[in-house]
Amino acid sequence: MTKFVVLTLFTNMFSEFVNTSIIKRAIEKEIVLVDVIDIRDFSNDKHKKVDFPPYGGGSGMVMSCEPLSLAIDFAISKLESDKKDIKIIYMSPRGKLLNYNLSKKIASYSSNYIIICGHYEGIDERIIEEYNIEEISIGDYVLTGGELASEVLMDSVIRLLPGVLSEGSLDMESHTNNLLEYPQYTKPYDFRGRKVPDVLLSGHHKKICEYRNEEAIRITKKYRPDLLNNNYKENKK
Ligand code: ADE
Repeated sequence: MTKFVVLTLFTNMFSEFVNTSIIKRAIEKEIVLVDVIDIRDFSNDKHKKVDFPPYGGGSGMVMSCEPLSLAIDFAISKLESDKKDIKIIYMSPRGKLLNYNLSKKIASYSSNYIIICGHYEGIDERIIEEYNIEEISIGDYVLTGGELASEVLMDSVIRLLPGVLSEGSLDMESHTNNLLEYPQYTKPYDFRGRKVPDVLLSGHHKKICEYRNEEAIRITKKYRPDLLNNNYKENKK
């Protein structure tokens, strides 16, 4: 079973995530476990304080070492695994950019993850050093916190775990082979005069395959030409 222990100040943000659709089913089938822990529970401060102003000045607050390290230690003990098999990830706009290949790597690499969701101006740098944490970003923009980012990461990984989606679902989806997915059609055949391409009704499997492949290339050229060039192949390594 793949396990994610999420450390957050906003546990409520995960209640819909773990109770909806494919993720809910994956949890019920015990393919994945998503455990959400409130960092504030580890604050020894009488007001449950978790952050302080940054040394050196500047705006905002920084999540301090103490409640966070205690929360991480607790998460490690909960995972009941060899420490070196546990990967700790911090969702951060300065991290490695998430893409399909990184999701695949995470889905196959280890099965014990701790994900830290930061808020405010981030977390004390010493936590990142102390626990050898990997930072992951979901895009070149800044969110108010890491919660949504962690859900994006977990969602993109969980759907890749064996048994989560029906067989064949992953074969031709966007980003496999560096291509975006071809267009899909369903009933009715005629929508306001727009008809489904005839080849899809031909029953000719080879021709349908060829058509879909050509369309995947056309769509990728149109929306993401960068996926077709060497830069992207370099990123994959
Ligand atoms: N936290 C804030 N912004 C983020 C981003 N772009 N990716 C991951 N975590 C974040």
